[in-house]
Amino acid sequence: MIELRAFEPADAPRVVSWIDSLEALITWSGNTGFTWPFDAGQLSGFHASDPSPRVHMAVGPDRTPVGHFILRTEPSRQSVRLGMVLVSPAVRGRGYGEAMMAAALGKAFADPAIQRANLSVYAHNAGAMRLYERLGFRSESVEPKATCVAGEWSPSITMSLLRDAWRPRAH
Ligand SMILES: CC(C)(COP(=O)(O)OP(=O)(O)OC[C@H]1O[C@@H](n2cnc3c(N)ncnc32)[C@H](O)[C@@H]1OP(=O)(O)O)[C@@H](O)C(=O)NCCC(=O)NCCS
Repeated sequence: MIELRAFEPADAPRVVSWIDSLEALITWSGNTGFTWPFDAGQLSGFHASDPSPRVHMAVGPDRTPVGHFILRTEPSRQSVRLGMVLVSPAVRGRGYGEAMMAAALGKAFADPAIQRANLSVYAHNAGAMRLYERLGFRSESVEPKATCVAGEWSPSITMSLLRDAWRPRAH
């Protein structure tokens, strides 16, 4: 259904076009410091400024980009952190998000040293939480006042998937 390839600066305008509001920007990127209106320069600059993120694009069978995420190995070298998970609004609800995350986890756990995958999600983002739970992630901790979205404080939930609970699947 999808393949992964490295993010290229030329992908930035397309990825930026998938974010249609300040609320969507915060929900997706948390406290990364992006400002509204969001633009390709901010995204390219963010990715270029930090050599540690491994930024990936998911592409469909015709090579059209459908998703974006970051997969970082954490300093312990035993866990990875997933972030900036985004699927094109045009193709949401068709399984691309699940396929992309399954592929990301396959990539992460291909390294036998990696014992867990971590991510954070805002509590108001129920759809994303359901996706992560379907993949086996479980909530570990809650930061109560993580961000303010449309005047409402939203907690951030850290979720983890242990290698033993990971079930490889086709993507
Ligand atoms: C969260 C996100 C990545 C999910 O991507 P997606 O491609 O829509 O995910 P999926 O299609 O795999 O799953 C979404 C829903 O579609 C359903 N679905 C999947 N394939 C389907 C199909 N063929 N037919 C009908 N429904 C389908 C899933 O069961 C799921 O249902 P649910 O919402 O009731 O749980 C996407 O909504 C997104 O980019 N959101 C904005 C950014 C964001 O919030 N990122 C997460 C930050 S932590």
